[in-house]
Amino acid sequence: MIFTNNLFNDYISSCTRDFIETSKLQVYDVQDYAMHISGVMSSDYYMKEIFNSTLELGNVKTVALPAYESSEALRIWHKINKARKCIRHFSATEQLNLNELSSLLQNTLFISRVDAHGNDVKHRNIPSPGGLYPVDLYYLNLKAIDGLEVGAYYYDLHQGSLKKVSDGTVDSVFREKVFDAFSVTEGVPTDIDFFNASGVVILGGTLNRTAFKYLDRGIKWVFTEAGSLLNNIQLVATAQGGVGTCPCAGFIDDAIAEIINFRSIDQVPIISIVVGKPVK
Ligand SMILES: Cc1cc2nc3c(=O)[nH]c(=O)nc-3n(C[C@H](O)[C@H](O)[C@H](O)COP(=O)(O)O)c2cc1C
Repeated sequence: MIFTNNLFNDYISSCTRDFIETSKLQVYDVQDYAMHISGVMSSDYYMKEIFNSTLELGNVKTVALPAYESSEALRIWHKINKARKCIRHFSATEQLNLNELSSLLQNTLFISRVDAHGNDVKHRNIPSPGGLYPVDLYYLNLKAIDGLEVGAYYYDLHQGSLKKVSDGTVDSVFREKVFDAFSVTEGVPTDIDFFNASGVVILGGTLNRTAFKYLDRGIKWVFTEAGSLLNNIQLVATAQGGVGTCPCAGFIDDAIAEIINFRSIDQVPIISIVVGKPVK
């Protein structure tokens, strides 16, 4: 009998592989892509209609929801959610310190309980397809701070540590690589202020971690899990105070994959979150 390790078999169809490939942003597409997006954003009609959209169902039975009873915990929950927003401009003089970064990462993703019935399965604070946890957090540290060099790090939630995954290039070269991956150039104005940001969190998915069990459908849930983490990081930053975050989808996928040392076609950067000290 031949034993195989399901985790390392390829369960992803060629169509899905094609989608992953064609959804990547390539250097040669950046300009056209940026023009396409600014075409949408410069239209007041689109911005208003898109932002305020609801599903138009016509004349259907409608049930008004009653005022709900609030608790202290819910009031706090509501307050944090209400205050959450994207922050794109960061202080030129202040950086997140290691404590602030630690709190941001360790409150975004942590072990919430150990299942005594299974093989000591560790559950996290987010739901996950089959508990397979296909999404990992990486941090690109753009500014050297006390206790943390410039470079790319993997967040090990089991140890509560950051593990350096980039090589020992000089700081300016690393920063340049990151700026290139986001197609930004120091001195040229950008929507998100990468140049004063402390760093960038990358949510990286390992596709086969769900596909080996759920086949192609599992890919959707890698993205679903990334959504939970994206929401968490913004809410944690809001609750923590003094931390600005903004998701950024505009990156050259293969360049980010290289920076965080991805070595397999199964590993894909899904979304990035720029973090820094908000301008006061
Ligand atoms: C998946 C995703 C990708 C995003 N990418 C970008 C981006 O590339 N650049 C940017 O400025 N904002 C980006 N945003 C932020 C949205 O523009 C922002 O959430 C939206 O305008 C609503 O504003 P608010 O979050 O401050 O309420 C992204 C948000 C999400 C969820």
